[in-house]
Formats: sequence, C-alpha cells, structure tokens
Amino acid sequence: MPEILEASASRYDAIRHVDELIHAIDAQNCTPGWTPRKQPLMWRHPLSKFVPVHWRFSEIRPALLAAGRVIGTDQAERRNFVLRNPIEGNDFATTRTLVGAYQSILPGERARSHRHSSHALRVIIESRGSYSVVNGKRHPMETGDIVLTPGNHWHGHGHDGDSQAFWFDCLDLPLVHLLEPMKAEDHPEHWEQNAERVDHSPMRIEWADIESRLAATDTGGSDASFFGKTVDVTSALMPTITIKVHHWAEGWQGLAYRRNANAIYVVLRGSGSSAVGEEHFNWSFGDVFVEPLGVRVAHSASEDAVLVALTDEGLMKFCGYDALEACE
Ligand SMILES: [Fe+2]
Repeated sequence: MPEILEASASRYDAIRHVDELIHAIDAQNCTPGWTPRKQPLMWRHPLSKFVPVHWRFSEIRPALLAAGRVIGTDQAERRNFVLRNPIEGNDFATTRTLVGAYQSILPGERARSHRHSSHALRVIIESRGSYSVVNGKRHPMETGDIVLTPGNHWHGHGHDGDSQAFWFDCLDLPLVHLLEPMKAEDHPEHWEQNAERVDHSPMRIEWADIESRLAATDTGGSDASFFGKTVDVTSALMPTITIKVHHWAEGWQGLAYRRNANAIYVVLRGSGSSAVGEEHFNWSFGDVFVEPLGVRVAHSASEDAVLVALTDEGLMKFCGYDALEACE
C-alpha cells in the first residue's frame, strides 16, 4: 500500500463504534448512506411540493390597470405580477420548472430589450396593436397568439394600439435556477432599433393557425379521453416548455388522470371546472391554474372553451420520467 494511503487508514484504526465512524467521516464531507435523514432521498409515489392554485383574471386585471397608473415601463422593465406558488420558501416559481406572470403594457409604451438563457413565451389574452421585437424582427401580438422568445434571443415589447394590452408570460426560469446555466443582459441600446415587421415567423404561433388546426382535429389523439381535442404547438427552439392548446366543447367531460408533468393552464375562451388534487377550480376567461405532478385531475367545460397548457411534459419524456394513467 502506498505510504499516503497507510497514513490515512491509520486514522480509522482505533474506531470501534459506528457513531465514531460517522463523526470522523463527516469531517471529510462524506455522509453515510444507511442513516435516516430529515428529507428522505426516495419515496413511493410521484409527489410535488407545489400545490394546485387558481388565479382569476377578473381579480388580477384591475391590479394591472392600477399598475398602469402608478408605475411606468421606465421604472418597471416588465410591468407584471409573478404568480407565486404559495409554498414555504418559494417567492416566484409557479410550478417546479416554470414561472408564469400576468404582464401589461400601455399604448405608446416600450418595455426595454434584454436577453437571458431562460426560454420564454407569451400567451396573448387581450391585445390589439402590441408587439414583441425578437432578435431585430417585430412580431405582432394579437389576442390568442403565442409569441416565443427562445433562450438568448433579444426581446422587448411595444404597443401601437389604443387600449392597455394584457398577456401571460411563461419562462422555464425555475429549471434554469436548478441547472444553473444562467446568463442575462440588458440590450446595450435599451431597444432594438429599426425592427422589420414580420407577420409569419417561427417566433409567432398565430391564433388563426391554432384555430384552423383545432378545427381540423377530430379526436385530439390517444389522450383525448383526458385532454379532449388538442393540438401540440411546441417549438423545437424551446423544448423545455411543452405548449398544447385544448378545445373543449360545451358539456365535455374528461376522465380523471394522474401524470408526471407540471402544468399551467391559461384560459383563452369559455368556462369550466377542473378538479386538481383536493381543489376544485371554476375557471373562466383569462384565468390561470396550476396542476402539480402526481395529483388526481379531471377537467370539464361548461361553455365552449379554449385553454393553453404549458407543461414540462417534453422534459419529462426526454428524461424518461413521463407517465400518464387513468384513475378513479
Ligand atoms: Fe425576458
């Protein structure tokens, strides 16, 4: 045995009790794998620390109108309210991997350009005439559109319309915090000048296209009993956020399921209800609600409804962790 190994081994020669060994090895930043811990390393079933939550647009919209009166985009680079899941120690994440926020901009305003490693998108709730400039191209943001800003793309927002615009932002920022590839910077000129308008672009999922794809969809695929008529509009440019749009006819009732995916739903049209774990959410236009992984979920529509579902389903599939099953 080399001399250096003999010297190290001798430190443990006198140990006769397991507690002494645990104490001694702790100094080496080693921890025994056989002892119980405060936080178990494994458990029997998928279980999220995040909870089901429902935010009503009818309650948040007046707050955004007030924000429009009391703070400008010169002070607030983004005039938004972040939807914080109310669990201990969390001050921003909406689900384990995603954060959502309601954002608003006034006619004539600009929200300065920046870029960051986190992928981001906007689901447009109410807008005529607002736009996003993404890497030097100006993309209209009209009601029902979904506008993408993949990681490290410059983006800023402006508004040429006549009335305050509202949208829902979604970013994979909690995932970026976990994996730590964070990089963020402000645009050196604060704004991308002379942006050329583009109506059709990989950065803009147009409402008209979503609507025609939904109309051409019969069953919604193999998971239709749970999720109804569905189109998948996920962009390969930002694979961490799966984007699906559901169209549920008046009276539609989905079967109950559990799955390994964390979801944020944005209601673009209609009303209905969703049982999510122990909660029962009656949702309507503009509302947002959260489905954490592992809970029993069942959706139904009381009016013809369109919802955008933003999930980590693709990420789960990539990892080989995806699961979906019917339940009582
Ligand atoms: Fe951003």
